[in-house]
Amino acid sequence: MRRILITGSLGQIGTELTCHFRREYGVDRVVASDLIRKDVPEVIGEGHFEQLDVLDAERLAAVVRAYNIDTVVHLAAILSAIGEEIPQRAFDVNMNGLYKVLEVAREYKLAVFTPSSIAAFGPSTPADRTPQDTLQRPNTMYGVTKVAGELLCDYYHHRYGIDTRGVRLPGLISYKTPPGGGTTDYAVHIYYEAIRQGRYESYIAEGTKMDMMYMPDCLKAFTMLLEADPARLKHRNAFNITAMSVSPEEIAASIRQHLPDFQLSFKVDPVRQAIADSWPNSMDDSCAQQEWDWKPDYDLSAMTADMFAQLRKDQGNKDEGSPPTGCGT
Ligand code: NAD
Ligand code: SER
Repeated sequence: MRRILITGSLGQIGTELTCHFRREYGVDRVVASDLIRKDVPEVIGEGHFEQLDVLDAERLAAVVRAYNIDTVVHLAAILSAIGEEIPQRAFDVNMNGLYKVLEVAREYKLAVFTPSSIAAFGPSTPADRTPQDTLQRPNTMYGVTKVAGELLCDYYHHRYGIDTRGVRLPGLISYKTPPGGGTTDYAVHIYYEAIRQGRYESYIAEGTKMDMMYMPDCLKAFTMLLEADPARLKHRNAFNITAMSVSPEEIAASIRQHLPDFQLSFKVDPVRQAIADSWPNSMDDSCAQQEWDWKPDYDLSAMTADMFAQLRKDQGNKDEGSPPTGCGT
């Protein structure tokens, strides 16, 4: 049974992945970590937590030794929109952070799982049903670090035999932890604002399609690929995976099934729109289907129904003054 260190575990994915892995592998076998100790009771209060800057390789190695870690799930990163505000920091965290994780993995013979992104593609990539293996010339710092990260993980596998694996994630939609400054964040905000105000002003333009996925499918994908039979893997890092390809108005139409008066308006942010325009409309994830049986559970309508149920439940709990629910491990 694995002993897993998660970096960046207080972010949108990490908070839920920590709970998910503690359920799958056992509370004692999962060590959550992040740069700063934020108040996330279900992660910090319900198992091991270490304050850890991924740029500090010595401390990373010390945590690996202290908990006898054999697998690092590396989530610490700066996402696309913030990455364009602070490109030098994005390069440092995304590139040097991954390099340090891989070097520690080489020294201690660890498996490494790290997500890439739709951002690893660029304007010259075929936009529809983007193939697994295709042109990758991204024009954002985040995208540059993601495509370089994919290559670096391949290199450590071929050169040093490190068991590196990963997926190219689409935009993730979730109700527990807000997204951390990406271009696809609108697809989360739209649900919160629908419940709060009955309307949403989108910074992404009408007609802009991007791949999206509900968080439970992301968690499922991480476990499936982490535990996949290596003999079946022709690819290793950066498997395209998706669950839906949607535009803001398609999400709005789905929301109106639950909130008929929901209003969507647009005030386009040119920076994030340019990023969105450089990404695929839809990815072809047939390699993930063939090599490790990938299949999402949630389409747009199932996701919207669950988002509404969960956000309304949270709202009810808040109104009653109940504390936030923990991991439930
Ligand atoms: P997030 O921004 O919500 O969380 C990232 C976490 O990393 C934060 O808690 C932050 O404090 C931490 N961090 C930043 N610098 C650090 C450092 N130097 N040392 C340690 N921790 C540090 O991001 P997320 O959405 O959870 O994304 C996790 C991974 O998944 C990233 O690699 C991201 O590129 C990838 N991804 C996410 C999405 C998405 O829609 N959320 C889509 C595609 C890919
Ligand atoms: N959701 C992420 C972003 O928008 C995609 O990697 O940055």
